[in-house]
Amino acid sequence: MKIAKPLFLLISLAVTNVITAQNQERIPEVEKLLGKMTIEEKIGQLNLLTPGGGVATGSVVSKNVESKIKAGNVGGLFGVASPSKMKMAQDLAVKQTRLQIPLLFGSDIIHGYKTTFPIPLGLSASWDMDLIKRTAQIAAKEATADGINWNFSPMVDIARDPRWGRIAEGAGEDAYLGSEIAKAMVTGYQGEDLTDEETMLACVKHFALYGAVEAGRDYNSVDMSRVKMFNQYLPPYKAAIDAGAASVMTSFNDVDGVPATGNKWLLTDLLRDRWNFDGFVVSDYTSLNEMMAHGLGDLQAVSALALKAGLDMDMVGEGFLSTLKKSLDEGKVTEEEITNACRHVLEAKYKLGLFEDPYKYIDESRPEKDILTPENRAVARKAAQRSFVLLKNENNVLPLKKSSNIALIGPLADSRNNMLGTWAPTGEIKNAVTILEGFKNVAPNARIEYAKGSNILNDKELAKNINVFGPRIEISKELPDELLNEALAVAKKSEVIVAVVGEATEMSGEAASRTDISIPDTQKKLIKELVATGKPVVLVLMSGRPLTIPEEFDLPVSILQVWHPGVEAGNAVADVVFGDYNPSGKLTATWPRSIGQIPIYHSMKNTGRPAPDSEEFQKFKSNYLDEKNSPLLPFGYGLSYTTFEYSDLKISKEKIKVNEAVEVSVTLKNTGKFDGEEVVQLYLHDVVRSITPPNRQLKGFKKVFLKKGESKTITITLKPEDLKFYNSSLEFVAEPGTFEVFVGGDSNASLKKSFVLE
Ligand code: BGC
Repeated sequence: MKIAKPLFLLISLAVTNVITAQNQERIPEVEKLLGKMTIEEKIGQLNLLTPGGGVATGSVVSKNVESKIKAGNVGGLFGVASPSKMKMAQDLAVKQTRLQIPLLFGSDIIHGYKTTFPIPLGLSASWDMDLIKRTAQIAAKEATADGINWNFSPMVDIARDPRWGRIAEGAGEDAYLGSEIAKAMVTGYQGEDLTDEETMLACVKHFALYGAVEAGRDYNSVDMSRVKMFNQYLPPYKAAIDAGAASVMTSFNDVDGVPATGNKWLLTDLLRDRWNFDGFVVSDYTSLNEMMAHGLGDLQAVSALALKAGLDMDMVGEGFLSTLKKSLDEGKVTEEEITNACRHVLEAKYKLGLFEDPYKYIDESRPEKDILTPENRAVARKAAQRSFVLLKNENNVLPLKKSSNIALIGPLADSRNNMLGTWAPTGEIKNAVTILEGFKNVAPNARIEYAKGSNILNDKELAKNINVFGPRIEISKELPDELLNEALAVAKKSEVIVAVVGEATEMSGEAASRTDISIPDTQKKLIKELVATGKPVVLVLMSGRPLTIPEEFDLPVSILQVWHPGVEAGNAVADVVFGDYNPSGKLTATWPRSIGQIPIYHSMKNTGRPAPDSEEFQKFKSNYLDEKNSPLLPFGYGLSYTTFEYSDLKISKEKIKVNEAVEVSVTLKNTGKFDGEEVVQLYLHDVVRSITPPNRQLKGFKKVFLKKGESKTITITLKPEDLKFYNSSLEFVAEPGTFEVFVGGDSNASLKKSFVLE
């Protein structure tokens, strides 16, 4: 991370750099300030509060925030926005406390600030790193315009269990792709210069392994071997840190039996000592206090444990604030440990330039000119188009003509409340474009008649669990059969039916795990009845996770997966349905046939008794009695309105030496009737190695545009580190032997060549 320093500091740095135990350069200004601070003032900096107004994801909201700031007991706030509110709070900190230390202002800007982009799982399906970075830059520009300088994003937890609702918030199942996206987001938020008013601190979360919670139940335990961690789950966090992420948030789960928030191996041995992280570590919402429920002792004990483990800042729980002084007096923590945590927090403030100007992110004129601008909305529309995945195109029904006679059916077709997606607390529902509106905008000459057709689901108790942030599921007064009949009447008058179905936004996200990830029954019935009319049916499917849809997939329907598309939802869906944009998204998490196959992901291992390729059941093989091993839709899968043909796979060398790169090239031809984009994917299989290899692992990709009829040679370079893995001693090594390379349009790619590492 490049930090612009004023000249006088550069001069003093050269003379007085302080080197700590971790061999990192310290900032003289911060050291000087630390020298003046009392122990209470240092502890105060470790306290992060929320006065409410954001999303209170725990049962507590901070109280008496104003008096705590004045008492020097607060290091930062989150869940506050707008320059005027920020100014009030900053005034308290810099005008009414002894040392005038400014506050950090945090927020959860997970997929856009007011310009809400598609949910991260959707955005990842674009496989477009420039676009993803651009969304992060826009998020930073908008959020800083409202005074925020610290973002609780990116969420880089690898997730292979779609029961877990928070799969929506990340980049899916793959460590390689996840690392690329982590990098794009961190550099997007933080830019080249953190003192720039349009950039903010990134916070990589949730460290670590949160996506591997047992049974897909949120906040549950995680237990995992080190080789699996290092090879498959840790790379995106490391990539974010290598890209310069300024902060890290701990996760709610335990790792090796110790909650992440108090896990010394994780926060110090790995993060600081092995990865050289030099930013600050914040807990998740009350995750420090939750260590009591985990069974690690009382508040004083868990606070001391967390501090000693390497936690710097305590979110909302006030465990540090209320117990660290006592622990110091009783010799349970040291002053050095408190100073060190405080140093990390102060250094972040310094990096932002807050000591030079505490009000630099507070500018009343910015919101109006920087937030939700037409340019930003245009990027949201583009991002949404590119996040959609065409799962099926029955008889090439799509794209539709703009003059079609359409029945637009379904509980999500005219549902503004469900467009933004989960974890969009800074977005505003009123700004979202519904699918019905988008259709009318994009195809004003089409005949479009709308009917709801069904509720999202009919179970009132379940709807209550989902509607905690407002009415995402609205159960109509009409009976289900009445809704259905109304829709069938509309459908019968049309030439094509578009049914917008799937999950409400809060059916995924935090504390939104499901044991059944199929389309709710009432919508399944609607789909079947619509198909029974004999008209062509297009399903526009919304969800925050892979769903199990084997029945719907077998029906004669087309399916466009659109996740929760964000503020430009309707326009973007219409752009793709009517062919103004040819879909190019590819799945970043495997879609299972049945919930019983979970966890299922493309980089699975062979086992000693692999199932036969035919997938016919065989006794004493690694297969199921009642289901195939293969997923319904593999990782990397996605269709286009055109077709692509891969040929002529070549590898630059048949034999290479350690630390040599290999070039892999393939000819890609657009053989269909539309211009379009394809994501060329490269998978590697290390045939023999000292720990069991996955059958294939993504190791490279390129998104390419081809005009119809056009061919291009695409080259992907395999770098020496792409052949490496963490062995059982956790050394990152490449072992000699044969490597098979597969290239194609999804993880079942069949073109294959091999080379040998000598
Ligand atoms: C979530 C975090 C979030 C935090 C603050 C927690 O419940 O797990 O992802 O950053 O709340 O809003």
